[in-house]
Amino acid sequence: MRLTMIGAGYVGLVSGACFADFGHVVTCVDNNEDRIRSLGAGKMPIYEPGLDRIVASNVAEDRLRFTTDLAASVASADAVFIAVGTPSRRGDGHADLTYVHAAARLIAAALDGFTVIVTKSTVPVGTGDQIEAIIREERSDADFAVVSNPEFLREGAAIDDFKRPNRIVVGTTDPRGREVMQEVYRPLYLNQAPLLFTDRRTAELVKYAANAFLATKITFINEMADLCEKVGADVQDVARGIGLDNRIGPKFLHAGPGFGGSCFPKDTLALIRTAEEAGADLRIVSAVSDINESRKSRMADRVVDALGGSLEGRTIAVLGLTFKPNTDDMREAPSLSLIPPLQAAGASVRAYDPQGMEFARPLLPGVTLAKDAYDCATGADALVIVTEWESFRALDFARIKSVMKQPLLVDFRNIYPPSELHAHGFTYRSVGRPR
Ligand code: NAD
Ligand code: UGA
Repeated sequence: MRLTMIGAGYVGLVSGACFADFGHVVTCVDNNEDRIRSLGAGKMPIYEPGLDRIVASNVAEDRLRFTTDLAASVASADAVFIAVGTPSRRGDGHADLTYVHAAARLIAAALDGFTVIVTKSTVPVGTGDQIEAIIREERSDADFAVVSNPEFLREGAAIDDFKRPNRIVVGTTDPRGREVMQEVYRPLYLNQAPLLFTDRRTAELVKYAANAFLATKITFINEMADLCEKVGADVQDVARGIGLDNRIGPKFLHAGPGFGGSCFPKDTLALIRTAEEAGADLRIVSAVSDINESRKSRMADRVVDALGGSLEGRTIAVLGLTFKPNTDDMREAPSLSLIPPLQAAGASVRAYDPQGMEFARPLLPGVTLAKDAYDCATGADALVIVTEWESFRALDFARIKSVMKQPLLVDFRNIYPPSELHAHGFTYRSVGRPR
């Protein structure tokens, strides 16, 4: 099949490359010329493990192309995927559909023959109806079906998630739309991935419900961590103890600094707005969103507390800036809520991240970026782990201790057993575990 992917970001690029790997002929379109130029030169605009290899091999096979020419690629496509951003709208937190609507207008002008238009972007219930109306308004003669096909991949594990999904959700009641989507995903459902067909509004809602549920699970365990600290229990054992019940499951029960990233924060907010407009009161999701925001903003207090109440003249070393490991994405990263208050309280901040430095630099003025974890720790009064990159899991603590002003580790990701740090002579603070 000939597929066009509009938006060559985290989702569009991964989806486009994986579809090409299945044998489809894919054109990735982006209106960011630098991005397309860089892809044309074989340079990935984002960090996602394994992406460079899969892109290179499919470009070499001539199954994957990059262009800024949306019209030509839409005209020749069997299916056009919209994978542009849907950020939070300034002011009210609803999903900003500017890019989706603009893409729909451009698609309308270029349609030629029956085409399936697929929303892969995360869009509020009813967006498929809006896209359909926009296209009809622009081109009353167009022959098309608008289908919802939300994406569930995680950054950092995106290729595996895309190729081995727990499920594929397709929202359409149009028989031709259904047939095309079956063909698009044939290699995956032949490989046992359940393909769930629903109506379009339901598919749109499944995506928000999934993210809101996962965000709720994280927020629940974070609350349990707070309680553990008060009563002297260990949240990791609580998570293990409940997670072994297969009705609960062990995943997404890692307590930490609060969830970040390009999706959970914005999608929980957008879902609340959708519900408000529909006259439904989502009290659990509203609480999750509020609790998470206040949690992230309280993390700096823990560092202040660990340093005895004042940061004046102190140096803090931060390990990990991205919102999670194996990505360079800084959107809504907990480090962005932590570092400015530390600076405002008088601390100098040094930081290191294996992949996030380029995107972090403009977002964190005044932070000294170090060349590795040891350089970062040099001269610091406290070392703070914010993102659990693998390379931070086996630090040489004798070396770290020798370069720090004092041996204090604040670990927001619970990656070390407290006993190990105590054995190295460190004061160790983690989340929801006895000190
Ligand atoms: P992104 O910002 O990384 O990429 C979006 C791309 O679209 C950008 O490169 C931008 O230049 C391009 N674009 C915007 N308007 C365009 C137009 N008119 N024509 C051509 N290109 C255009 O965004 P992302 O993280 O890939 O997210 C895309 C969507 O997928 C969002 O709705 C998001 O919620 C959803 N989603 C994201 C993830 C994730 O892990 N990032 C996972 C699942 C779903
Ligand atoms: C999340 C979902 O997991 C994907 O299914 C979804 O497609 C995607 O959002 C999206 O809609 O964009 P992602 O944001 O890439 O994926 O990363 P996650 O692994 O879900 O982590 C999100 C945040 O939650 C991170 O800040 C992470 O540190 C935090 N988290 C996650 C925890 O604090 N504890 C956990 O147990 C799990």
